[in-house]
Amino acid sequence: MNKTILCIGAGYVGGPTMAVIADKCPEYKVIVADINAARIAGWQSDRLPIYEPGLEEVVKRVRGRNLFFTTDIFGSIKEAGMIFVSVNTPTKTFGAGAGKAADLQFWEKTARDIIEYSEDDKIVIEKSTLPVRTAAAMQRILSSNTKGLKFEVVSNPEFMAEGTAVDDLQNPDRVLIGGMETPSGAAAIQRVVDIYLHWVPRERIKTTNLWSSELSKLAANAMLAQRVSSVNSLSALCEATDANISEVSAAMGLDSRIGGKFLKAGVGFGGSCFKKDILNLVYLCEFYGLPEVAAYWEQVVRINDYQQSRFVGKMVRQMFNTIADKRIAIFGFAFKADTGDTRESPAIHICRLLLAEHARLAIHDPQALANARIDLAGAEGVEYCSDPYEAARGAHAIAVLTDWREFRELDYRKIFDEMAQPAFIFDGRNLLDHAALYELGFNVYPLGRRALSHLE
Ligand code: UDX
Ligand code: ADP
Repeated sequence: MNKTILCIGAGYVGGPTMAVIADKCPEYKVIVADINAARIAGWQSDRLPIYEPGLEEVVKRVRGRNLFFTTDIFGSIKEAGMIFVSVNTPTKTFGAGAGKAADLQFWEKTARDIIEYSEDDKIVIEKSTLPVRTAAAMQRILSSNTKGLKFEVVSNPEFMAEGTAVDDLQNPDRVLIGGMETPSGAAAIQRVVDIYLHWVPRERIKTTNLWSSELSKLAANAMLAQRVSSVNSLSALCEATDANISEVSAAMGLDSRIGGKFLKAGVGFGGSCFKKDILNLVYLCEFYGLPEVAAYWEQVVRINDYQQSRFVGKMVRQMFNTIADKRIAIFGFAFKADTGDTRESPAIHICRLLLAEHARLAIHDPQALANARIDLAGAEGVEYCSDPYEAARGAHAIAVLTDWREFRELDYRKIFDEMAQPAFIFDGRNLLDHAALYELGFNVYPLGRRALSHLE
């Protein structure tokens, strides 16, 4: 049996997933291929192209042993028996379904490459998040080959979260593998199950039909995002009343039917999946004639946008209705802690809104400054600071947009002394010790909790 696995797409999903598979399955050869030569060079170097705790250790252990990175997509297609596809599937920006449907051009290109360069039968595994029924389209394209080859399409969605990817991959809650309900489909599912059985208990590996597997990924992300939007909508009500969102979340979370996770209010969810997957779900619902269902899920994204503009509105209002020409230190640009990824980060939208008010921004992030520069390219009045103290020096306000733990450890007395007065902190992640900051003289605006202000 061919024990060479290929993954097309060396991104946030492909890279870590294949590193862990290579680590756990030493008798398999794992190749990761990408058209982006710089990315491949990064995976081959000492500075990996993505920051992910624990990843470097795993990659260093297996790279050159049974994990290989290459730009030779065609040669590796030929060699592999199983091909994971984790190329990007951004939201379409043009034509039908623009702004909602997934742009499948990278996917289709990959399918055609597979047909062109394959010389024997293969199992093709969808790893990217894709709209339901993409596998069917993939199966159709692949079976259109005139070489008499048989391709079996399997869906194996990725549930890892950034920042905890390695741990999520090593100890998954569940692994989902969907395939065609035919004897050859079942055999293909088993080949994929056999990989995961190297380290995942059998009862955590769920096999389903293709469509359930595809939909489960969208549904899981939509449900998680929905919890965040639900709690964020309640944070607005908490600010209007005297309730405290942290207390409300804790009280809700103690109900074992609700559970305590994903109930943290903040400036909104970001990341490459949530918004994209919900919009995909919305598009699917509309496509299948279910406008009420589509509107229900779309509201999750709307509340997320609202939370960000509400945050900026509060900043402007509290800073005497103008932030024009005021320096504002942005603490955190990544969409969450422990990653340098800024895709769909609430910080992008918030910074743009602040710039539209003519504020001057000094952005600090421990990992995401390079991406921040790309996201805000061309914007005037933005400084990028590798030192948080430098960012805060002379600032009228600090806005905390990412929950980096190190922001708690900073010397806020020193920061306060070097800021313009009155000094404001808008803690968009409820990360800091608000009472201590207030004692130091800051005017503190947490999220979904009463403000601690010296001005009222
Ligand atoms: C998500 C899913 O969790 C993962 O299963 C899927 O495979 C990919 O999408 P990810 O986007 O990496 O993972 O991060 P996640 O931890 O889910 O956080 C998403 C966003 O929600 C972040 O911006 C985070 O700050 C925000 N969030 C999360 C909250 O605001 N409050 C919470 O309580 C939880
Ligand atoms: P994800 O978060 O889903 O992993 P990324 O954008 O980080 O998304 O990674 C997707 C990768 O897929 C990129 O590195 C991109 O260069 C690669 N890619 C896109 N199209 C192709 C293709 N046709 N062949 C090979 N790699 C591709």
